[in-house]
Amino acid sequence: MPTVEWTGDGVRLIDQTRLPEEELYVTCRSASMVAKAIRNMVVRGAPAIGAAAAFGAVLALREPDPAAGLRAIRASRPTARDLFWAVDRVVAAADPLEAAQALARESIDACRRIGRLGAGLLKPRPRFITICNAGALATVDYGTALGVVRAAHELGLEPSVLVLETRPRAQGARLTTWELQQLGIPFRLLADGAAGRAFQEGLVDLAIAGADRIAANGDTANKIGTYPLALLAREHGVPFYVAAPVSTVDLATADGAGIAIEERPEGEVTTFAPPGTRAWNPAFDVTPARLITAIITELGVLAPDRLASLRQVLAP
Ligand code: MRU
Repeated sequence: MPTVEWTGDGVRLIDQTRLPEEELYVTCRSASMVAKAIRNMVVRGAPAIGAAAAFGAVLALREPDPAAGLRAIRASRPTARDLFWAVDRVVAAADPLEAAQALARESIDACRRIGRLGAGLLKPRPRFITICNAGALATVDYGTALGVVRAAHELGLEPSVLVLETRPRAQGARLTTWELQQLGIPFRLLADGAAGRAFQEGLVDLAIAGADRIAANGDTANKIGTYPLALLAREHGVPFYVAAPVSTVDLATADGAGIAIEERPEGEVTTFAPPGTRAWNPAFDVTPARLITAIITELGVLAPDRLASLRQVLAP
């Protein structure tokens, strides 16, 4: 079942806070429910958030106070560019539901193309390292960074994956492992701090991550810990790829300094700490464009400094 799907009177989401223990689905029938599901990470991952927000906007436009519903959705999480792009697209459409459904369909197509284009960069038996979850769960279906792994698997390239746990929400440990297990792709789970050792041991051929927002100069916001992963890749002479649909590219933001980075509750970090411990919990970091080998989009594999070529495609 897709991660995000319109049911006729609402949007059905697989509850990602319950995986991998339970496969539960929730249906949001109001804009405020969609906003809450995005904020609480029932649905997460930029393209999945975008699709949920699109259907949330459809619900908002059917409510007595559409502006309030749209405001709640826009305020749910600040970093994923797809959220704002999706809401704007639905609001501007003559037929909002048809626009949201088209967006969801296009998102699946985009992921499959990203997968195929990314797999074209690989040699046989590629050993990936990845962070967070940029798989089917983070999209409507198929995935971006994990879509590349999946396409490689489908092409018989025999990929394997080192999965970073991704504290504090453990998207790697809970979600990426779950997806790879279902796909039958070999993987091993690593504590985040073990990444350096993996590079030193020569266990990594390439690093790949998704993106929440890519600035015009190629600076890329993604899950906290992506920047250190890119630094390790550079230090060890290993390519570092970002895989993302063009909807994640924000040409209106010149560089990473202009990207709003979400800060989440301290309690997500203090699980093992004594009561009263203060924490700082930025959900994303920004990887400078100079550390990115290429950005794999559905329209092609682009050098990070060539995003301006998308200007015409991305024009409203
Ligand atoms: O906080 P999350 O789980 O929504 O963060 C998700 C990521 O950082 C993903 O890598 C990104 O959204 C791309 S998903 C295809």
